[in-house]
Amino acid sequence: MDELHPRLLAVLGRLDADRFVSGEAIARALDCSRAAVHGLIRQAAAFGVHVQSVRGRGYRLSRPLELLDEAWLAGELAPLGLNVLCLPEVDSTNAHLLHLAQTDAPHGTLLAAEWQTAGRGRRGRHWLSPLGAGLTFSLLWRFRRPLAQLSGLSLAVGVALARAMRALGARGIGLKWPNDVLLGEGKLAGILIELSGDMLGPAAAVIGVGVNVRGGEQLTGQVGIPVADLETACGRRLDRNQVLIALMQALVPALTEFDHAGFASMREAWMDLHAWQDRQVAVLQVDGRLLTGRAAGVDDAGALLLDTGAGVLPILAGEVSLRRLGE
Ligand code: BTN
Repeated sequence: MDELHPRLLAVLGRLDADRFVSGEAIARALDCSRAAVHGLIRQAAAFGVHVQSVRGRGYRLSRPLELLDEAWLAGELAPLGLNVLCLPEVDSTNAHLLHLAQTDAPHGTLLAAEWQTAGRGRRGRHWLSPLGAGLTFSLLWRFRRPLAQLSGLSLAVGVALARAMRALGARGIGLKWPNDVLLGEGKLAGILIELSGDMLGPAAAVIGVGVNVRGGEQLTGQVGIPVADLETACGRRLDRNQVLIALMQALVPALTEFDHAGFASMREAWMDLHAWQDRQVAVLQVDGRLLTGRAAGVDDAGALLLDTGAGVLPILAGEVSLRRLGE
């Protein structure tokens, strides 16, 4: 993935979707030449930001781009006990936060980035998020329970994200086992949890979340799977900072509950959101074996219950992938 020019965000932060801003005004504010501004704006398209350029009038964003506001986020999220860090660019918020976790970053550190050069998805995939169109962040959570008792954590996170999205006004949100947030068939958000600690001692989790706030259609063309976005689900414009605050307001109590009671206490909430309940599905296992059956929900540990006709098999998350079968 391309690296951001250090001044590109400063230039884009001065643009507006409602009016033209002249290159000269931007150059003056940033103490650089108009040519430099023009050059940077030309690079923006590579990051998924489209800027209209009209001679004599200046530049206008084709859609709004509010950047992360660290001071505002920190103020809103401090009462939840979160310690907020926003970076313009990082390889992967998960990778970076895992590193910080090893050097004593506190419980509740939230790391959000405008741009990831190597965003990680599940099963070795990349996570792509056009600049300013989504949220990419990771939260460090130090649990009292050991690693061996964290099964179902990603499902609990999914429930919290779905609750927050509903509170923002989203309709039609569902969860796909183990941890995708869907709108219809389209993927609205993904969760990647990376753990550190030993099986018996207290565990630390880096909970990475990518949310498509807008631009789902554009992403569908780029990533080759159906992608949805939160603005479509809510039917209104959203502010990325406000979305991040709402997600944390749901996630923090859910993680506290999970540490206390495990996934069992959220199983029903997950089942209410299960998008593929009773559908025929295929589970591709790491060893390449394919299991088919009816998705019969999840158990108290968050395992998918696959009704094969010959019995109900609990399928543990991990390196398996779930596909819907044609009906
Ligand atoms: C998936 O494949 O569905 C999981 C995607 C998780 C992406 C997020 S973006 C923020 C965090 N940092 C990463 O490198 N990945 C996660």
